[in-house]
Amino acid sequence: MTNSRIAAIDVGNDSLKGIFGKMDGEVNIPNVIARDIEDRPIIGIEELDTQDPLDGIHIRVHSPTLKDNNAIYRVGNLATKSNNSTELDPGSSKSEEDQTLVMLFASIALDAARNDSNFKKNNNVIEANYTLGTGLPLREVKEGKDVGYRSRLLGSVHQVEFLVTPRYQGIKVNIKFDEVKVYPEGFAAFINLVMDNNLNIINKDLIDKRILIQDIGGLSTDIAVIKDRKVDDDKAQGFNLGVSESLEWIREEIRSRHGIELDSRRDVVEIITKKNDRNHIMVKGSRTSVHDIVDRIMLELAKKQYRHLRNMWQKNSQTEICYFIGGGSSVLKEYIKTLNNNLDGYNIDFFEDEKESIWMMANAYYKLIADFSRKTQKQQTQKEEQKLAKTK
Ligand SMILES: Nc1ncnc2c1ncn2[C@@H]1O[C@H](COP(=O)(O)OP(=O)(O)OP(=O)(O)O)[C@@H](O)[C@H]1O
Ligand SMILES: [Mg+2]
Repeated sequence: MTNSRIAAIDVGNDSLKGIFGKMDGEVNIPNVIARDIEDRPIIGIEELDTQDPLDGIHIRVHSPTLKDNNAIYRVGNLATKSNNSTELDPGSSKSEEDQTLVMLFASIALDAARNDSNFKKNNNVIEANYTLGTGLPLREVKEGKDVGYRSRLLGSVHQVEFLVTPRYQGIKVNIKFDEVKVYPEGFAAFINLVMDNNLNIINKDLIDKRILIQDIGGLSTDIAVIKDRKVDDDKAQGFNLGVSESLEWIREEIRSRHGIELDSRRDVVEIITKKNDRNHIMVKGSRTSVHDIVDRIMLELAKKQYRHLRNMWQKNSQTEICYFIGGGSSVLKEYIKTLNNNLDGYNIDFFEDEKESIWMMANAYYKLIADFSRKTQKQQTQKEEQKLAKTK
């Protein structure tokens, strides 16, 4: 296990979040990839040096686990600009899509290239050993897909070759996993709520309660049911309903009504969440409100989300509290709170800090895998000490 670096990775439908090492590395990449048929036109050397690698992830991936081995991809921001980019289809299975693996490998390769002094390096090849904690939706874990997913990751060396990527062009990263843990997403969120980095219980009040965790993401919503410190697999539910579509509608309507072209959904999020001058844009130099557009579309989504909450609460009547997590919850917070005040008045809670909400899963995987890694290291040291004692 020497030199095994920790990776805790949440491959969200909207974006991948990764935490590495002793929390010294972090990465957030939009979950978008585009297959390249030919090599991307070479860009100037000066450009290569100054650009952020994150904005130019261009890789070839060799791995027997992929359906499409040795393919070339643009990943993240670079893929967004491409006209053949693909996002995960909400109905698909994360564990069975090449896209999930391409994202996972890309993020790890990026971390390895950034921290190459941690690893053995021959010429341009980095030998990167990782201990990985990641997750799958409850539905897939229920179907037993976590087992195959884990063994495919463990079973071979996966190579990422950086092509026209700033700073890392020409570098190859051989990724080998010393250990892989695949956690169910709902369970992970619960762990993060009740335990600290050393898995000590930090929330005694909460640990034995019956709780719901409603995770509103970019493309999907999952509701986990926790009872007796466990997730109740049978009760958990997932819906193909996230916040991305509504953000897209807002963008459309701002364009058709005000003639303003926003670059991305991120720009919409910025407009509707900024502290100052929220829900306003500039039109030909005049400050203009888009409040009505935002309110109508967001309220509509909040109502749908609220219906799901109500439905789940009915089926789990002894629930004591529901936590809203995920990026979608940050955006919908005020709308859902208002609805709840006017309607059923459930005991619900949100996270003040949107970063906490969005990074909930990645943080949980980190806590779990870091703890696992500490324990196995301790065991190994003990074994070695015993061996030494015997030979004396
Ligand atoms: N800083 C932010 N503040 C508010 N909302 C944000 C922020 N960053 C992202 N979002 C919104 O949150 C959504 C993504 O949420 P999240 O990262 O929880 O989704 P995901 O986990 O990738 O997707 P899914 O849960 O569907 O797999 C995006 O659609 C975006 O609009
Ligand atoms: Mg998510």
